[in-house]
Amino acid sequence: MSNSVTTTTYDKNNPFPARIVERRRLTTEKSQKETVHFAISIAGSGLSYRSGDSLGVYPTNNPVLVDALVRALGATGDEIVQLPRSEEKTTLRAALLGALALAGVTRKFVELLAERAADAEEKARLQAVLAEADPAKQKEWIESRQFVDLLEEFPSAKLSAQEFVDQLRKLVPRLYSISSSPAKHPEEIHLTIAVVRYQTNGREREGVCSNFLAHRVSVNAPVVPVFVASSHFGPPEDNTVPVIMVGPGTGVAPFRSFLQEREVRGATGKNWLFFGDQHRESDFLYAEEWEAYLQSGLLTKLSTAFSRDQAHKIYVQDRMREEAEEIWQWLEAGAYFYVCGDAKRMAKDVDAALLEVVATQGKMSSEAAAEYVKQLKKDKRYQRDVY
Ligand SMILES: Cc1cc2nc3c(=O)[nH]c(=O)nc-3n(C[C@H](O)[C@H](O)[C@H](O)COP(=O)(O)OP(=O)(O)OC[C@H]3O[C@@H](n4cnc5c(N)ncnc54)[C@H](O)[C@@H]3O)c2cc1C
Ligand SMILES: NC(=O)c1ccc[n+]([C@@H]2O[C@H](COP(=O)([O-])OP(=O)(O)OC[C@H]3O[C@@H](n4cnc5c(N)ncnc54)[C@H](OP(=O)(O)O)[C@@H]3O)[C@@H](O)[C@H]2O)c1
Repeated sequence: MSNSVTTTTYDKNNPFPARIVERRRLTTEKSQKETVHFAISIAGSGLSYRSGDSLGVYPTNNPVLVDALVRALGATGDEIVQLPRSEEKTTLRAALLGALALAGVTRKFVELLAERAADAEEKARLQAVLAEADPAKQKEWIESRQFVDLLEEFPSAKLSAQEFVDQLRKLVPRLYSISSSPAKHPEEIHLTIAVVRYQTNGREREGVCSNFLAHRVSVNAPVVPVFVASSHFGPPEDNTVPVIMVGPGTGVAPFRSFLQEREVRGATGKNWLFFGDQHRESDFLYAEEWEAYLQSGLLTKLSTAFSRDQAHKIYVQDRMREEAEEIWQWLEAGAYFYVCGDAKRMAKDVDAALLEVVATQGKMSSEAAAEYVKQLKKDKRYQRDVY
């Protein structure tokens, strides 16, 4: 008999069915946001991770939305369909639940409905959208609608289950910055997730994966397919260098990991966290942990920016400008500078503030400041994890 042990390697193509072992809301009931802390067990998976990595999660769509789509198609859900660009066959319901994205209407889909609409008034309305001269207006009309809206709004346009499935894109995994350190939690991965909710076309919408994790998955059931996505983002190997971390909102996630990591390593380098969110009272994520780290000395400095606690907005970059002199001293002492969170606005504004700090405090021209920041990036002393 052979004594060989077969080990399974879990990755993006073969995700590990993990269980959530802890789920706790970080924002209070008063908050406009629902931001949730998760602990996910990877015990027995053979998976490992590093501080700075992300976790990939394959979500399942909301069954209520799937039922509405099946109804709007006039189908039963049991129809056998072939997945687009694949050999795989499954039922319409299974495809809509786990394999296909239910948002992301295309112009092509509107064209198909216009072609199929049997009702003259419906056809004319769809043709008017397609003939719209203002591209921004047309884009707005299409993007504010989801597939279910269009099927319900234009019921005379009949599509078979397969024709509908052929119009959809694949449901892709979502990435989340890991908020724990493997040094402290080797068998768990922590996540810090803002639950996505918004309105378009007068209807309530919900983000697929954030709602799947926060509201549809049962705690302790091995039903969350995950994989570790490694990253170049991570704390410095040198335990003596200072670290400045800018992470408003869920952007704070990897910095919780960095601090845990540096604590376990006994790193002597100073740590400075810039955190911001809407209100101190309701949105101060992990406040008690930062307080304990300030007490223990692990966290040297915490600068907060609660944007909506006063009449005018205060953001992390405003705090950076106020602290320009000290940031400059830290940088000159070899500090690493990290940014995580919103890519569209925050990361750009923080970048501009950093350039300003360097130019004013280093008494440099803007060209020389840009060169200084470029060198920081080259030396991996300026790292970003933005989304
Ligand atoms: C490297 C990386 C790390 C990340 N880390 C984190 C993290 O730590 N925590 C975290 O919460 N997220 C993180 N994210 C974001 C995360 O991956 C998901 O994008 C997020 O959770 C939304 O996914 P969802 O499936 O819930 O929403 P989706 O179903 O993907 O819906 C989001 C989409 O809805 C639309 N939308 C959203 N709001 C509006 C609006 N107001 N009006 C109109 N349309 C709108 C947009 O098209 C948007 O792309 C990270 C992303 C990356 C790439
Ligand atoms: N690009 C995007 O549209 C985007 C990016 C990230 C997250 N989100 C969504 O926002 C929700 C919550 O995300 P989150 O908890 O990570 O927080 P967030 O929305 O990024 O907000 C965190 C803090 O950053 C502030 N902020 C807004 N614009 C800023 C800027 N230009 N520079 C610096 N700070 C800025 C916010 O202030 P105010 O809100 O008071 O202005 C808030 O105090 C989620 O639903 C998520 O999907 C959207």
